[in-house]
Amino acid sequence: MKVDVLLGLQWGDEGKGKVVDVLTPRYDLIARFQGGPNAGHSLEFNEIKHVLHTIPSGIFHPDKLNVIGNGVVIDPVIFKKEIESLERLGVDPRKNLVLSKKAHLILPSHRMLDAASEHSKGKAKIGSTLKGIGPTYMDKTGRNGIRIGDIFQASFEEKYRALVEKHQQLAALYDYPSDISDQEKEWFAGLEVIKSFRIEATEYLVNEALRKEERVLAEGAQGTLLDIDFGSYPFVTSSNTVTAGACTGLGIAPNKIGKVYGIFKAYCTRVGSGPFPTELEDSTGDLLRKQGNEFGSTTGRPRRTGWLDLVSLKYSCMINGVTDLILTKADVLSDFDSIMVAVAYRTSEAETSLELPYSLEETIDPQYIELPGWKADITQITSENEFPEELNAYLNFIEEYLELPITLVSVGPNRSQIIERYID
Ligand code: IMP
Repeated sequence: MKVDVLLGLQWGDEGKGKVVDVLTPRYDLIARFQGGPNAGHSLEFNEIKHVLHTIPSGIFHPDKLNVIGNGVVIDPVIFKKEIESLERLGVDPRKNLVLSKKAHLILPSHRMLDAASEHSKGKAKIGSTLKGIGPTYMDKTGRNGIRIGDIFQASFEEKYRALVEKHQQLAALYDYPSDISDQEKEWFAGLEVIKSFRIEATEYLVNEALRKEERVLAEGAQGTLLDIDFGSYPFVTSSNTVTAGACTGLGIAPNKIGKVYGIFKAYCTRVGSGPFPTELEDSTGDLLRKQGNEFGSTTGRPRRTGWLDLVSLKYSCMINGVTDLILTKADVLSDFDSIMVAVAYRTSEAETSLELPYSLEETIDPQYIELPGWKADITQITSENEFPEELNAYLNFIEEYLELPITLVSVGPNRSQIIERYID
């Protein structure tokens, strides 16, 4: 069996949580492979709205195994809170959640360093979620990190203290306050919760599942344009959010990748700083934010909004080897008379370019085409036969441009508001 991968093609917040939740019944095992509590995967069902940060979105299905892979970074404080809020909903995550021994821990001092680094950058700040993601991955690649498997070693406390001390020395260089003592009690309490879970070499577990013909879904976090290598560097997160990240973040070989579901919103959003070629800083952008309820699920920050950008979307499809497209939040565009879609860029180097320039920070003049809006409530639609003609034309246009099929269209936040296409 192969691993199917589901990931975001834009700047995150494409609605991955809901789609994973909908696809979960088709799989036996759901695995997160990168990122950490900077993610906020929202699910809505039975009048409940729930946001997951570190835990895979299959957790609400008790018969599915959920895996937090080695590529994920875990903050024990946030993990404990997530577990407690699941328990309040009557979910028992100890039954179906396994953590990789090799996943790295976010220390309170990583969070402090994140804040120190952003503070030092002033106006050039990344707009980080301040969850300590960057500093934790820096320690991982710098070979100084602390992994979950280390918790059980006699030298753990010593290792922890040594790393905190190093972080405090770094904070002194930033001239930033480095006392984290008031956060440590909570952090160690979180470690105790982690210890109460199955902690394993999950690379064996995932590969064994594949050998037994079980179906595995890898759930990406953030989005391709936030990838450390291919995103709008330096305004990116610190992990590989692309399909290749599923291989390194779970321990699966590239030839084990099956379908790649690429999720994108009917328009674009971005939280934090960085270039955004199709951004709308006007009343249309405000309307998109209002209709789409575009406020960060992790930080509550208002999201920047803009038109769909097919140039960057095509790039994301290429980097990820997307096989199936999934369009979300189509309903948000229902009030618009016409819908703009960027199909090319004019840059300082090219009159018309279909490629992303080296730096998205340079002035890009997106070239748009205008498509008619459908001006109809689509939230109650249950089959693609009921799609307004203009919505079909919009979907066909995107498919032709990207040379890929849109197999699912989400028309509202609820689990049930998703329409499958190409059903025989
Ligand atoms: P960090 O990963 O928290 O350091 O944030 C780096 C950049 O990625 C910032 O612009 C964040 O707003 C953005 N970011 C991180 N995680 C997410 C996410 O899950 N959704 C959307 N943006 C994110």
